[in-house]
This record gives sequence, structure tokens and C-alpha cells, in this order.
Amino acid sequence: MGEFVKSTDTAGQGKNLPRHIAIIMDGNGRWATRQGLPRTAGHKAGAETFRRIATYCKNLGVQYLTVYAFSTENWKRSETEVSAIMTLLKKYLLEAVDTMEQDHIRLRFLGDMTPIKPELRALARQTDEISDHLAPGDFQANICLNYGGRDEILRAVRRFAADCAAGEKRPEDLDDALFSGYLDSAGIPDPELIIRPSGELRLSNFLLWQCAYSEFYFTDVLWPDFDEAELDRAIAAYRARDRRFGGVKK
Ligand code: IPE
Ligand code: IPE
Ligand code: MG
Repeated sequence: MGEFVKSTDTAGQGKNLPRHIAIIMDGNGRWATRQGLPRTAGHKAGAETFRRIATYCKNLGVQYLTVYAFSTENWKRSETEVSAIMTLLKKYLLEAVDTMEQDHIRLRFLGDMTPIKPELRALARQTDEISDHLAPGDFQANICLNYGGRDEILRAVRRFAADCAAGEKRPEDLDDALFSGYLDSAGIPDPELIIRPSGELRLSNFLLWQCAYSEFYFTDVLWPDFDEAELDRAIAAYRARDRRFGGVKK
């Protein structure tokens, strides 16, 4: 892509499009409550927003979209709410199994899948296998399910320690690249841009290792109301940032 950016430039054109965008899909419950609906109606609307934004990212040419769907702390919610979220995920995966190949969409899961119901895990394995057959350059959506940044780091440390105990690795070999390879996000570049809607100014245990040099974008818009124009605004804000990575601007 050239340096010249026309005045009619839209988010997908011109230079400096983030290769990887990560989103904390927050505000579903408040969106529903404000309309006198049950919280589960907010999750349903939020799932629609995810479909829409994933398609938009793909069309723009963003290569990776990582979304926070369910945290390691979200089990604290009512059984009704947790099972409604899992049912929506199941519905999405059933659709994905039928469409991802023709749409060239790869799907990956980040998080500890062990406490997830076998039926949903089997579907995740199926989408994983389909993804393996797609081209590495195809758009990839990463769904963070039972995901916590600390949990991801701890599971990585346990695996690395086990490899050391087995004599396959030495502690002194550990560096950024080697450690990244033990994380759920192995092989995925760090997100350049992390977006959190709903007005909360925190990470809530999202991508703690990967966010070291990410740019953050916060908006008061609730996730079910988040649309293409909002994403354009986030990308425009990202483009206006001066990323120095600890250096000094020349
Ligand atoms: C995000 O929306 C979805 C999940 C955490 C699963 P919330 O359900 O947290 O919505 P608010 O923050 O209560 O409005
Ligand atoms: C973060 O949102 C998790 C997801 C969006 C899946 P929460 O709503 O759980 O975070 P807190 O509780 O406001 O920090
Ligand atoms: Mg929330």
C-alpha cells in the first residue's frame, strides 16, 4: 500500500491498517437492562454485532480479530446467563462449520477449554480442523472462551517447567519468543489495537502478555450498538497515534 492517502480514504484503504485487532465485547447486559429486556437478550444482540464486525474486519483486510467472549471470572454469573452465552456460542459454531470454508474464515479458541461442555468442545475441535485446511493468510477470528490472561500465563509456565523437568528445555533459554510459543496465542502476532466499548477503562484480565505495546481505544458505546462506523473511528484513532516502542521519534 502506498504512502498517499486520498481524502476519500476509508478505514480499509491507505497505510497503517492494524493487522490484529482485539475487542473486549462488553456492555451486553446494560444494553438489555436499559430496554427492559433480560441480560440474555443483550448477549444475543452482542453475538450479532460480533458477526457483523468480523465480516467488516475481514473485508477491510484486517488479518486477525480476537474477541473476549467469556472470561475465567464470568463463571460467577447466574447459571441462566452462563448457559445462554454457551448456547449462543454453540449456535455460532454450528453456523461456522457450514460457512467458514467458503468464506475463508479461520476460527481459533484461546482459553482453557477443559471446563467447557463436551458438545461445545467437540464443535470447537471441528472448527479447528476446518481452519487447519484453510490458507494461513486467510482471515482468522480468535474467540477467547474461559480465557484469563493470568490463567494463560500460568498454563504456559507449567508447560515450560514440565519441558525443563523432562530435560527438553533449559530455563536460561527462555526469552520473549520462546515464551510466546507456550501461550494460547502462539503464532499470532500481538494486537496493535485493543478496543473496549461500554465505558469501562480496564483490561479485565484480557491479553496481559500480548498487550505490552498495544494501542488502546475506549468508547462509551455498548457492544450491541457497536457498528462499522465505530470501528472506523477506532482505526482512525489508532492511525493518529505515535507508536515509539520506547524509542525516540526521529
Ligand atoms: C459482556 O457484556 C459479555 C460478557 C462478559 C460475557 P456484559 O454481560 O459484561 O455486559 P455488562 O457489562 O453487564 O453491561
Ligand atoms: C470482560 O467483561 C469479559 C468479557 C467481555 C467477556 P466483564 O464485564 O466480565 O468485566 P468486568 O467485570 O466489568 O471487569
Ligand atoms: Mg461487563
